[in-house]
Amino acid sequence: MCIMEIISKTSDLQARISAYRKEGKQIGLVPTMGALHDGHLALVRRCVAENGCCVVSVFVNPTQFNDKNDLLHYPRTPEADCALLEKAGCHIVFMPSVEEMYPQEDTRVFNLGAVAEVMEGKYRPGHFNGVAQIVSKLFAAVTPDRAYFGEKDFQQIAVIREMNRQLKFPTEIIACPIVREADGMALSSRNRRLTPEQRKNAVNISQTLFKSLTFAEQHSVAETIAFVTESLNRIPEMRVEYYEIVDGNTLQPIASWSDADYIVGCITVYCGEVRLIDNVAYRK
Ligand code: PAF
Repeated sequence: MCIMEIISKTSDLQARISAYRKEGKQIGLVPTMGALHDGHLALVRRCVAENGCCVVSVFVNPTQFNDKNDLLHYPRTPEADCALLEKAGCHIVFMPSVEEMYPQEDTRVFNLGAVAEVMEGKYRPGHFNGVAQIVSKLFAAVTPDRAYFGEKDFQQIAVIREMNRQLKFPTEIIACPIVREADGMALSSRNRRLTPEQRKNAVNISQTLFKSLTFAEQHSVAETIAFVTESLNRIPEMRVEYYEIVDGNTLQPIASWSDADYIVGCITVYCGEVRLIDNVAYRK
């Protein structure tokens, strides 16, 4: 196993990456906000398998949090993260400070089009602009051949693809499947904020989405949305923020099952104070 390096300065990162490039190695990047779980590690393992150098960034990006309380409570476990990354074969962990990534305020405003305006774009104003700010800074610093993102953040991948297209980075965006616990719950760093009781209730999110696949065979899009929303809102401490069934390419809501070939249902649910997201494909 190689010795993993932990780097906090962009200039040091760039020097190490050019050394890897001189050896003819391709560079893969897994951007994360830390508090790593098996979902992240699946991205890292794929990145290691497909590139001579795997860089994982661990940075809780303040500009993408529209809710200061969420930023304050976001879990931070840097030592545990590094131990997991070393085991997964990562070559470089990039753990910059906020001052390193934002020596001055980033005033860039991205126009990421229709994919960024719906769902999370509507409920978390400024969120995707912050994601585009940090991911574009990471892409500029690392110039990765490939960058890996989890499909749990389904809309985020579409937004990053658009940012990547607009800024003409030569990076291939690789979407990796959601990793779930044995009971179906999608892995998320936020799950560790759930109480044991909330965790027991939260399994209903994925289970209801899976049940809705059968329900949808006999019901309309509107009825399926109502089925998911009403089932989850009946559970203690759960409040559905939105459930939208969208064209998986454009992310625009569909009215009828015949409106698209690729159809995905995207949900955001508050479980107590913890905001959880998940999604399921009705048609691929
Ligand atoms: O998905 C995340 O963890 C973050 O949004 C990302 C892509 C690392 C940017 O901060």
